[in-house]
Amino acid sequence: MIKKLNLVIISLLILSSCNIDKNTLSKEDEFVSELLEKMTLSEKIGQLNQHTSRWEMTGPAPKNDKSQDQLELIKNGDVGSMLNVTGADATRKAQQLAVENSRLGIPMIFGYDVIHGYQTMFPIPLAEASSWDPEIVKLSAQVAAKEASAAGLQWTFAPMMDVGRDARWGRVMEGCGEDPYLASVLSVARVKGFQGDNLSKNNTIAACAKHFAGYGFSESGRDYNTVDISTYTLHNIVLPPFKAVTEAGVSTFMNSFNIINGTPATASIYLQRSLLKGLWNFEGFVLSDWASIEEMTTHGAAEDLKEAALLAINAGSDMDMESHAYSKYLKELVEEEKVDEKLIDDAVKRILKIKYKLGLFEDPYQYSNIEREKKEIYSKENRDIARKVARHSMVLLKNEKQLLPLSKQIKSIAVIGPLAANKDIPLGSWRAKAIKNSAVSLLEGIQSAVSAKTKINYSKGCNLTIGDRSFLQELSFEENDKSGFPDAIKAAQNSEVVIMALGEDCWQSGEGRSQTDIRLKGQQLDLFNAIKKVNKNIIVVLMNGRPLAIPELSEKAPAILETWFGGSEAGNAIADVLFGDYNPSGKLTISFPRSVGQCPIYYNHMNTGRPTSTNNVFWSHYTDSPNTPLYPFGYGLSYTSFTYGQATINSDEIKKNESIQVKLSLANTGNFKGEEVVQLYIQDPKATYARPVKELKKFKKIKLEPGESKEVSFILEAKDLGYYSPEGEFLIESGVYHIYIGENSQEVQQVNFTLID
Ligand code: BGC
Repeated sequence: MIKKLNLVIISLLILSSCNIDKNTLSKEDEFVSELLEKMTLSEKIGQLNQHTSRWEMTGPAPKNDKSQDQLELIKNGDVGSMLNVTGADATRKAQQLAVENSRLGIPMIFGYDVIHGYQTMFPIPLAEASSWDPEIVKLSAQVAAKEASAAGLQWTFAPMMDVGRDARWGRVMEGCGEDPYLASVLSVARVKGFQGDNLSKNNTIAACAKHFAGYGFSESGRDYNTVDISTYTLHNIVLPPFKAVTEAGVSTFMNSFNIINGTPATASIYLQRSLLKGLWNFEGFVLSDWASIEEMTTHGAAEDLKEAALLAINAGSDMDMESHAYSKYLKELVEEEKVDEKLIDDAVKRILKIKYKLGLFEDPYQYSNIEREKKEIYSKENRDIARKVARHSMVLLKNEKQLLPLSKQIKSIAVIGPLAANKDIPLGSWRAKAIKNSAVSLLEGIQSAVSAKTKINYSKGCNLTIGDRSFLQELSFEENDKSGFPDAIKAAQNSEVVIMALGEDCWQSGEGRSQTDIRLKGQQLDLFNAIKKVNKNIIVVLMNGRPLAIPELSEKAPAILETWFGGSEAGNAIADVLFGDYNPSGKLTISFPRSVGQCPIYYNHMNTGRPTSTNNVFWSHYTDSPNTPLYPFGYGLSYTSFTYGQATINSDEIKKNESIQVKLSLANTGNFKGEEVVQLYIQDPKATYARPVKELKKFKKIKLEPGESKEVSFILEAKDLGYYSPEGEFLIESGVYHIYIGENSQEVQQVNFTLID
């Protein structure tokens, strides 16, 4: 039960964040305050409810379910937002219900999970992150916003910026990988892509930073599991991307399903009120995750839905997604004086303000434009951009004897594997309105790339899954069937090279899709070994949504290209890389373990007291595996070679108000033009609190023609050296720092300097 004292503290927290001088009120503040004055308590609470669509807007509401009730609730102004209503026509009709029937005609805001495209699918976010290119990531979000807004949406539940260190967790596909700095830079780029510079334009949408906070640390990689991390990890690893997007003006936040420090994030006053709305001065609103308010009863944090509503609103969760807790209990809670009406006012203001910024009060239908929808969704222009983004997202993991790129004049190619001709899997998980089987398959991409004389021998070889594949169902894997092997072996025997598409079904990753075994499933590895016996020139094209444990493949395949789930244009983009129209430039943003037993594995770990081999067994290691990953964070090859010059610094010593410049030359010493991501890490070898062995602090993607070289320089300021104490205090400490520069987190050169007071 809430204590009176708590109520006072919360009210103070709100009042301090609402300390607005009347004279400096913005237009939207004035509008919102005036509107708020006209609203009854019920109307205010109405704004805090988000409902999922339960009916088909373009047809009559089905009988015997709650959909008719829902129509009435909307008409009454009891629904502030909807999710999963899509399409210009459907959103217009739904909006009309609210605007034309409710007393104050307040428009609803329509949200949807536009995670990597709306109908034109872009590579999954983890893939896009591998581009290490904020412009590429922004471009993808811009197109997604253009399409989603044309379908009547004003809000996406993206970007997800949960740092993910565990390949077992299915949702690593949705984030930027294991590094908080990279996740900050790329999430800011996504937010800018979605929101543009003016939210009221009809082709931009509000973004949502999720999941606040700690969700990426679900124990043992099992989705929705308990999170138990230190406040040190919270401040230094989990929170920085959220802080960065707040500073970049993200409109909304979504809280998370998990418990953190014993409290469900949805009920965390510390996260939502003290930090986000207090210290960080976030002016947007916080949405609960799906039923995360209700789930607090299962967590054992609330006795019933009513107490859950109380905890959530007090903690600063402004909008209730599908718990129906606020609609049922908030009024009662205010009347019983358990919730201060000021809390409701604050939440309503935040929501109305975003609606205002989106231009919904000016024209509630500006996003629902059937003409625009027809013209702008899945256009050739958008698919061309998706192809470009996909090319930038691929990571070349191995290329022995320069097997790649292939000549388009090659006489014969075998295209083999369960994913080779598949037109659905490359669309990935979280695929919004993608049309089933609409991706360009690898086979199709190769067919359009090669000369008319090239003979393509296709054979599937084996199946990956059995039964119906769908968003809602668990997958079943084909374990035994090798009946396709002879045909695949024949195709390989009759071809100069073999391109084998292996990996995962896209429904193996994503929400609710954690796995304990991250090796290739089914007969894939056996198929690879059978093909290898008859043709050694195998190029493996991987499609997957998480790091896979592929030590055997990595040893035996001469070439491996990581293509993730590349989206609508996957096959064309992969062909662009295979045949050298694009020189791969991606680098991993998440470590590839040798086996699942190493998970969680990440480059920015702490040192142990016994990090290196001694003459006995008592050091920090496995007795059956190296500690190192198969492929480290930051790793990725190119068709050309880059030579790094000696790194130099402009001073061995800097003061806290100064900066240090680090320089080196980078030369393209190969035969292809290419791009290299130069990575700068630091280490604070002695600090008040132990620091990681390396931390990414800067990176640059440099384009070079063959034979060309450029000087690459980075400026590090004292604040780049800082970190948070377990209490959340930002510390910049004097002493020696190591700078590591290189092509990935393992291959680096070192220079040292000292920070003095
Ligand atoms: C997910 C969110 C998502 C929401 C709405 C939840 O299950 O965790 O990320 O935005 O559903 O679909």
